[in-house]
Amino acid sequence: MKTIGIGMAGARYGAHMHLANYALLPPGLVEIRGVCSSTQASAGAFAAEAGIAFATQDFQALLARPDIDAIDICLPPSLHHAFAIRAAEAGKHIIMEKPLTGYFGEPGDPEPIGLHVPRERMRAGALRNAEAVREAVIRNGVRFCYAENWVYAPPIAKMRRLMAASGGSVLELCAQEHHSGSNSVFSRTWQATGGGALLRMGVHSVGACLHLKQWEGQVRLGRSIRPVSVLADTADLVHSDAAERARRAGANRWISSDPVDVENWANLVIRFDDGSRATITVSDTGLGGLDTRVTALMTDGVIKANMTANDAIETYAPEPSVFGNEYFTEKLETRAGWNRPSCDEDWFRGFAQEMADFAGAIRDGREPFAGIDLAVECVKVIYGAYLSAEEGRRVEL
Ligand SMILES: NC(=O)c1ccc[n+]([C@@H]2O[C@H](COP(=O)([O-])OP(=O)(O)OC[C@H]3O[C@@H](n4cnc5c(N)ncnc54)[C@H](OP(=O)(O)O)[C@@H]3O)[C@@H](O)[C@H]2O)c1
Repeated sequence: MKTIGIGMAGARYGAHMHLANYALLPPGLVEIRGVCSSTQASAGAFAAEAGIAFATQDFQALLARPDIDAIDICLPPSLHHAFAIRAAEAGKHIIMEKPLTGYFGEPGDPEPIGLHVPRERMRAGALRNAEAVREAVIRNGVRFCYAENWVYAPPIAKMRRLMAASGGSVLELCAQEHHSGSNSVFSRTWQATGGGALLRMGVHSVGACLHLKQWEGQVRLGRSIRPVSVLADTADLVHSDAAERARRAGANRWISSDPVDVENWANLVIRFDDGSRATITVSDTGLGGLDTRVTALMTDGVIKANMTANDAIETYAPEPSVFGNEYFTEKLETRAGWNRPSCDEDWFRGFAQEMADFAGAIRDGREPFAGIDLAVECVKVIYGAYLSAEEGRRVEL
């Protein structure tokens, strides 16, 4: 069996996350054979840590290597579509971190773009970027593996099995993700990230809801159930009067989100073509660690999936140092008091499973479970939501 050669594009947080989960695959299935980042120092450090022989600042040099079959894109979102198209043109399969793409500004746009560029213009640009990737993938006959880990998370997999076992319909999906804000400087501006909490984080919730309704449709109707419209509101709660009042009272020091021109809260309702709805809330202002859940309200039951903050393990400590440096969960402010550390965060969140599916899809020449269509659909729904929030109306998709 041929070993799949992987070239990493990006060498920081996302790349490390993927690296840790490649390491869980059966020996000989994949080998990381090169890494590219914007600085030689960073690429070199990643290569040394992972035992990779080839480190470069030149993406073209990574693409030129015949021993690399797939490019794993863990770059800032503004680079995703252009690098993916270049990878496809070079005949490389693509593993792509979320989001597929967005709108990052065009020459002549007033800055900061998040405060000035009309969402209709952004939506058209984001969809152009997304469709250009799909077109390049199809034209070059390469696999596109969309690293939407929620779709692979064991609680969502169990949800699918329970939905299949029931005879009922999902009337409403409720998905949420909350934490206290991204630490990445890129997350603060629209130009770097293509949006705020809704795109950066909400893309997981949107991806999971679209996927579950597609899947339900395939099982019940032999066709995907598609989103038809979206109604949304977005806000910068971090700079609201309410947050300012707390700041003056000295009661606002835990939220790390500090946006320039992006939202840190969003709420949306997706209507599907079978009349059902998905309601999604995302927030960069939620304390208590990463909180990610999907609930299915069905005609004949309720299924609640909780990928973080679940009670597989519960701890109590009278002060934060009791459990030393043992990892709890992402973005938890304190280990004191009662807590719910994740016993295997990567497994619960689907990272290990997505890498196994991608390696299998590339090796066997089959479609991955999460591919280009889901990636494009997420961009469509999210930029429809941005337009809805700006214009205060339901937007047809
Ligand atoms: N699924 C999840 O839950 C999850 C979680 C976190 C992140 N992500 C995704 O992972 C991706 C990466 O995020 P991150 O947090 O790792 O970002 P990051 O810390 O900003 O790292 C970005 C990497 O891209 C490299 N880079 C930037 N410009 C480049 C260029 N022109 N050519 C080559 N390399 C370049 C940087 O190089 P230097 O190292 O030299 O600066 C860095 O290694 C994003 O799409 C993000 O949405 C997903």
